[in-house]
Amino acid sequence: MIKIGMAYYPEHWDRALWERDAARMAALGVHVVRLGEFAWGRMEPEDGRFDFGWLDEAIDVIARHGMRVILCTPTNSAPMWLYTGHPDTVQHGPDGRPIDLGIRGHRCTLSPTFRRYAARITEQMAKRYAGRRSIFAWQIDNELENDHCACQACRENFRRWLREKYGTLDALNRAWGTDVWSGQITAWEQIEPPVSKAYMPDWYDPACMLDYERFGAWRTADFVYFERDIIKAHDPSALVTTNGWFPANMPDFYQTFAPLDVAAYDNYPPMDLPEDPEALYSNAFGLDFVRGFKRQNFWILEQLGGAGGCWSPMGIAPEPGMLEGYALQAVAHGADLVSFFRWRSACSGAEMLGHGVLDHDDRDNRRLGEIGQFCRRLEALPDLDKTCLRSPVAILYGPDQEFALKNQRQSRNFAYWTQLKLFQDACMGLGVNVDVISQDAPLDGYKAVLVPTHYVTDPTLATRLEAFAAAGGTVVITNRSGVKDEHNNCVFGQPLPTAFRHLCGCRVEEYDAIGEKRVHIETAAGERFTVTGWCDVLAPEGADVWARYTEKFYAGSPAVTKNAFGAGRAYYVGAVGQRALYRTLLAEICRELAIPMLPDLPLGVEVTTRTGKSGAYTFFFNNTLRAQTFPLDGEQVVLRPMEMKIRTGDGAWV
Ligand code: GAL
Repeated sequence: MIKIGMAYYPEHWDRALWERDAARMAALGVHVVRLGEFAWGRMEPEDGRFDFGWLDEAIDVIARHGMRVILCTPTNSAPMWLYTGHPDTVQHGPDGRPIDLGIRGHRCTLSPTFRRYAARITEQMAKRYAGRRSIFAWQIDNELENDHCACQACRENFRRWLREKYGTLDALNRAWGTDVWSGQITAWEQIEPPVSKAYMPDWYDPACMLDYERFGAWRTADFVYFERDIIKAHDPSALVTTNGWFPANMPDFYQTFAPLDVAAYDNYPPMDLPEDPEALYSNAFGLDFVRGFKRQNFWILEQLGGAGGCWSPMGIAPEPGMLEGYALQAVAHGADLVSFFRWRSACSGAEMLGHGVLDHDDRDNRRLGEIGQFCRRLEALPDLDKTCLRSPVAILYGPDQEFALKNQRQSRNFAYWTQLKLFQDACMGLGVNVDVISQDAPLDGYKAVLVPTHYVTDPTLATRLEAFAAAGGTVVITNRSGVKDEHNNCVFGQPLPTAFRHLCGCRVEEYDAIGEKRVHIETAAGERFTVTGWCDVLAPEGADVWARYTEKFYAGSPAVTKNAFGAGRAYYVGAVGQRALYRTLLAEICRELAIPMLPDLPLGVEVTTRTGKSGAYTFFFNNTLRAQTFPLDGEQVVLRPMEMKIRTGDGAWV
């Protein structure tokens, strides 16, 4: 059975409410309650004095109502006595001073003092609760990100990390190309984290920046190992995870989740949907991305429960159907647990305008009713958790691409995430399951592999893709691929796309970073598409031309090519289009590879399939605020705004 969860903060509410809250949650259909994540101050009110009495009681109340607990370590929010007594536990800014206190998440996860205290509170919790039947799983900290802390410990660790990587300053100077602007490093102590607020990231050496982000990814993962090991020492069979999200400074999620039992993510899809059908707003990319962290089904630890407003002003109210539709969308992409945020909107603190399921008035409301409906829907499908998505298509993602392209923008209106999302959207809009996986993952079992902007080049990937295409697969490569070497320096003396040129059978003759300008491309069949952000002007070296530019000084030159390679093919897409371009391209690829698809779905209707021994379930989700109609096996399917319909393998709607 798919599990339903709820975030609950007993420490925010009068003890007299707990029993009634638990009874209402159980009646709603909740299985697991998520507790504890910011409550260090209540667990250890003074240095070394622990108080778990209230937490014991809260867990007992929940267990008495037949529910279990996801217990969170509270290390995101250390108590004030720790920060003020030990300023080295606080993250430091580039000025070498601790950041201001008063919000949350101030801790430096590498500070040795912080680690000592974090180990102690985690150990206390693990000793007390690990192995209890009422504990379903553990969550480490909250929404870990690649903090740009510049405290002494982080500075020293960055230098140590570089020393281990390069061995000598000579090697580091060569890798970073420090002859530019007299940047030669002559002593390890000269190296500082490249985070000064006085500069934009693009003023720093991109090679140094990439190493700094890689170091930060290691720092995040190291903290996860650290807490996980403490919990597992007390209960090796404990299920341990953390709630990922997509912050401005992302970690490397493959590293972060490697030591954990299941991938998990906080899912806050948009409520204010744009009118423009070309707008790329669906949250589904994130869901496919998280499923790829461990290449298995995942959990949602925070699912949209009400209007946003944690950081005022308030957002709009979720439209009818939205909470249920979005929760089902997560399930449709492989979530096996969906935990809503949060039971009741807080009456105090900065997040009081960020709405949970219940309002401050505590009455049953429309949102509660909708989540109840979601629970009933899943109760009727008890075998769903025994199914998963099998995908003929994979999109390759690389943390290095994320890091390098964030710090060195290529063009206005061109972003790595947009490229990834456009391809994911096209697959889902054709009813074709797609995995988003690490660029290092094996490619076996896929028929097509899409590689948007492989910028920091791994030449072994080019070799793997050539073998994949030679054996009959289809590969898609796009603009800004093969541009940088592993240090984030430009590849010298080879036309783009360098390592992928042979596979694609074309070279980039020149390029035009057109930013927000728009031009058009046209296929041989006369289909026209708008492109923006970037235009590669291509010279075929054996490839056929799939589309040509119709404007600018390169009117008539190829924009997209298609190359026969062994038993397979490679497309090169030199410009960034809108949704329609990718759908046309993917439909062609599916036809060529005999991948079943639904070519007549309206934009905004998303289709995925979960399969298992118990059968197949196809999810048809209308992620728009308009009713949608489309043909399916001779019938007309109608979807209300935000409605999800589910069909079994034998054609029954359930
Ligand atoms: C999440 C966070 C929660 C809460 C929520 C509000 O990012 O983990 O604690 O702040 O946002 O939307």
